[in-house]
Amino acid sequence: SSPCGEIAHGLEDVLIKTTSISDIDGERGILWYRGYRIEDLARNSTYEEVAYLLLYGKLPTRGELDEFTSRLAKNRDLNPATVEVLKNLAYAHPMFAAEAAIATEGAFDDDNRKLSESLRTGKYGDEEKALAYRIAEKLVAKMATIVAYHYRLSRGLEPVRPREDLPHAANFLYLMFGKMPERLAVRGLDLYLILHADHEVPASTLAAQVVASTLSDLYSSIAAAVAALKGPLHGGANEAVVRTYLEIGDPSRAKSIVEAATKPGGPKLMGVGHRVYKAYDPRARILKDFARDYMTKYGDRDNLFAIAVAIEQEVLSLPYFRQRRLYPNVDFWSGIVLYYLGIPYEYYTPLFAVSRVVGWVAHILEYWDNNRIFRPRACYVGPHDLKYVPINERA
Ligand code: SDX
Repeated sequence: SSPCGEIAHGLEDVLIKTTSISDIDGERGILWYRGYRIEDLARNSTYEEVAYLLLYGKLPTRGELDEFTSRLAKNRDLNPATVEVLKNLAYAHPMFAAEAAIATEGAFDDDNRKLSESLRTGKYGDEEKALAYRIAEKLVAKMATIVAYHYRLSRGLEPVRPREDLPHAANFLYLMFGKMPERLAVRGLDLYLILHADHEVPASTLAAQVVASTLSDLYSSIAAAVAALKGPLHGGANEAVVRTYLEIGDPSRAKSIVEAATKPGGPKLMGVGHRVYKAYDPRARILKDFARDYMTKYGDRDNLFAIAVAIEQEVLSLPYFRQRRLYPNVDFWSGIVLYYLGIPYEYYTPLFAVSRVVGWVAHILEYWDNNRIFRPRACYVGPHDLKYVPINERA
């Protein structure tokens, strides 16, 4: 605490708004999107249907879903300026490229410019709200193209034009590999996209809302969210997990790696622990099941599943983790699924952004319904009214 009272370090347990987009029961390890349990959506839904649910608050009718899917498919192309940015950043980590590309796309989007003009005059009526939802759908459509184009350009390959006849996950794999993807790979990616679509207000969603609360534009708010997601404590964990597994190489080495994480100041074990979940992350459970099915059918590439199981057993049994209620989180298994699909690990966090962009923009639109600029305080503990000393009199 401080002379001014309790400090909410990292905003732990601070409530910044009411929401009806998603809810997390950290004690029991339950996640709902708009009141539907994540297990039901994972089993029965698609990313497009979940994106509609998160944006518009209800499951779409067949007609609504077809129209939404067709709007997304028609909005996948990028402005030539954005493709230039991706070319210039071809050799950078794709999260740098995603951040720069989405901001560039916004600079050239007429809807975005029009909405910014209205917001500048304090106008946010039904027309502006419709514009905001149109931009939200473009953000969902284009984030996937940005990431897939970067993959092609980073390998010196020509980008492949998006296909309007393919659903979101299938189109992404088609854009990446330039050929029709096989069914189980599409199911795996669609599941990954469903499970990462929203999660209340983690750091990246907070960042998106903080920027949007100043009435900055939607694309810039999403660029801020991408920047926040990049860190290994947040979205970057899935890439870190697979890199660690590949370095370990053998399940028998798992014990020493896990024990290193229990030493004071030791390296945190990526993919484990969570600010809210004090139980097994329900998303991780679903991804583990998919990874097991895939591995059973196609084999355990590079022993990743066996290594992950060995690490998980240590985490679930060592007192250090049990006392702190630290369990595998979504990142513990998500990278393995993408690894099996042949996606390089530097694209795992960008794919997290490809999914979460719908959650980020849904929370911004919800916050704009009752906007209030974020301006917390800090408790000043330094001196006041010091006397200014000319430089040649200073010791
Ligand atoms: C995501 O918030 C979200 O919803 C995020 C996310 C989403 O969908 O948006 O769920 C996605 O980001 C999942 C989390 C991915 N990150 C990682 O896997 C990185 C490893 N995890 C840790 O860095 C940590 O668990 C956090 C960042 C996830 C949570 O951090 P907290 O809530 O600030 O926890 P803490 O640092 O206060 O930890 C409490 C104790 C500490 O030990 P003591 O000081 O009490 O002795 O638990 C320890 C920590 O050292 N601890 C770990 C650990 N995580 C916490 N020790 C070893 N390995 C770990 N992974």
